[in-house]
Amino acid sequence: MIVIMGATGATGNALLTHLIDLGVPCRALSRDPNRLRAKEHLREAEVRYADAADPGSLRAAFQGVTQLFLTMTNSPAQVELETRAIEIAAECGIEHIVKLSAPAVASNSPVAIARWHHTIEEALRAADLNQTILRPYAFMQKLLRLAPEVATRRTIVGTMGAAACNYIDCRDIAEVAAAALTRAEIVGGTYFLTGSETHSYPQLAALLTSLLNTRIHYTDLSPADFRRHLTEQSGLPPWLATHIVEIQQLAIAQPEHPIDTVADILGKPPRTLESFLTENLDSFRNLPAEVAPR
Ligand SMILES: NC(=O)c1ccc[n+]([C@@H]2O[C@H](COP(=O)([O-])OP(=O)(O)OC[C@H]3O[C@@H](n4cnc5c(N)ncnc54)[C@H](OP(=O)(O)O)[C@@H]3O)[C@@H](O)[C@H]2O)c1
Repeated sequence: MIVIMGATGATGNALLTHLIDLGVPCRALSRDPNRLRAKEHLREAEVRYADAADPGSLRAAFQGVTQLFLTMTNSPAQVELETRAIEIAAECGIEHIVKLSAPAVASNSPVAIARWHHTIEEALRAADLNQTILRPYAFMQKLLRLAPEVATRRTIVGTMGAAACNYIDCRDIAEVAAAALTRAEIVGGTYFLTGSETHSYPQLAALLTSLLNTRIHYTDLSPADFRRHLTEQSGLPPWLATHIVEIQQLAIAQPEHPIDTVADILGKPPRTLESFLTENLDSFRNLPAEVAPR
């Protein structure tokens, strides 16, 4: 039995869907399991409540399980929550953890969340079980964060100039995770995951311009002004605004290049940014109901 933490999240949910399609038995965890039970295509999954802040709920959810997919929303509590989940997994006899990590993981990384992942990876390496580490670059799905500003102001705002990012579709990360959970030869590796080409924000604006048939502009701000924009205009918490500024500055300092890992493991090319944007074009055209003026 495979247990999936973060089964409501971008990658965990794609993994759950993919394992169901493959007919692989899995248990999906959430702090709000009704969000999963409500979805018709997830009917065949076993769904359980679990909160990483509640060790008893994790112990109960890990019974009878041999493998864990470990992912967690970024928050200042992430290191504590993930390292505790690793300890409990080992106590419960889980034999293999596939951890969703991040690129540029190092104890001295300029990106705080990369330092957090470093600490969690170290805890995983110290645990007495098999481990596979996935280090994907920026998720295409998170570009939907830009959609309200594109829909209202026809603008993308950032602080990375013409630096390009290795966007990857979470469904490709999920398929690599599924490979690690079902194919012995993938177990034990550390995999950097990217799409097949990089895109800068000016290139993203140009792509959206052609897909939407409306001019989309890119506005480059200083790091301090961009951070202020994220907290004041977009309403992000300060730590998350700082994180976004840090990763955009890192994209300038450490130029990103596509890597072939996804194609090598899956035997097919990764999904493209153009196809992701095309699937989600309505989000960039229309304001979500909760933001739209009544
Ligand atoms: N965003 C990117 O571009 C990117 C790039 C590289 C790596 N990453 C890494 O990918 C990971 C996932 O990030 P994301 O933003 O995409 O997250 P996400 O998929 O939106 O959410 C992950 C999941 O965390 C679960 N969760 C949160 N608190 C929990 C708790 N106390 N107990 C149990 N589950 C909890 C949530 O489940 P419930 O709410 O249902 O409980 C949610 O499904 C992060 O570690 C991030 O650093 C992200």
